[in-house]
Amino acid sequence: MLQGAQAVTAPALRLSDVTAGYGGRPVLRSVSLEVQAGEAVGITGPNGAGKSTLLRVVMGLLVPQEGSVHVFGLPLASGRSRRRIRTRIGYVAQEQPAGEMPITVFDAVLLGRWGRTFAGLRRPSDADRKAVWDRLAWVGLADRARHDVRHLSGGQRQRVALARALVGNPDILILDEPTTHLDAAAQTDFSNLLIRLRRELRITTLLVSHDAAILQECTDRILTMREGRFQHEAKQRPREGSFDV
Ligand SMILES: Nc1ncnc2c1ncn2[C@@H]1O[C@H](COP(=O)(O)OP(=O)(O)OP(=O)(O)O)[C@@H](O)[C@H]1O
Ligand SMILES: [Mg+2]
Repeated sequence: MLQGAQAVTAPALRLSDVTAGYGGRPVLRSVSLEVQAGEAVGITGPNGAGKSTLLRVVMGLLVPQEGSVHVFGLPLASGRSRRRIRTRIGYVAQEQPAGEMPITVFDAVLLGRWGRTFAGLRRPSDADRKAVWDRLAWVGLADRARHDVRHLSGGQRQRVALARALVGNPDILILDEPTTHLDAAAQTDFSNLLIRLRRELRITTLLVSHDAAILQECTDRILTMREGRFQHEAKQRPREGSFDV
């Protein structure tokens, strides 16, 4: 676990004047952000604003040109620290391509513990398997455990992705437009899961979305990014009844 003595005072995430981009061209321009442990922050903004780029910096996949990133007080200043943080972050992408290889729902979720509790010659333990069953039950897919992921609907695949992201008990959950490609019913199912997640497990969360309703329901505050900067910070007021699942 990353949480140690520093976790008492350090925020879950601190970006200080981060400039980052591709091939020397900056996309993020001196971005600062502080997220407290247990807080869920929504990020919205137009296409190309730099939202996914910000997530890549947090996940240690993109090294900033300037500025610093701290996760639970630990600087992401070396390749080693960036690799380490990747094992502590659960990530759900926009879409889970069905792929061409047959893989069961169970194994797809089990992969979320790869590199955390088992890897290489170290085989999955009973605890790994139990964690998979628990998460599958939580997303309502235990009865599909032996099904091939290629035969699932898009909404079911996103639920598999959420189970995989959570199965390693991450310190931070990052979701990049997780409902964009879902139909209305599957969007509702997925946002209900995120609402339940907020209730049952106060995991530090970054949720990128263009959907104002899901951001309102599933986050504590919403930030808007434009042209590589946060434009304003809209504090969210809790809405009565919005937590009915
Ligand atoms: N791998 C890459 N190489 C070069 N440029 C990139 C790369 N990824 C993104 N960009 C550029 O960086 C800018 C920001 O992209 P980013 O994906 O962060 O935006 P976004 O806010 O996530 O947009 P969207 O809402 O469309 O997902 C864009 O101009 C994009 O073309
Ligand atoms: Mg994006």
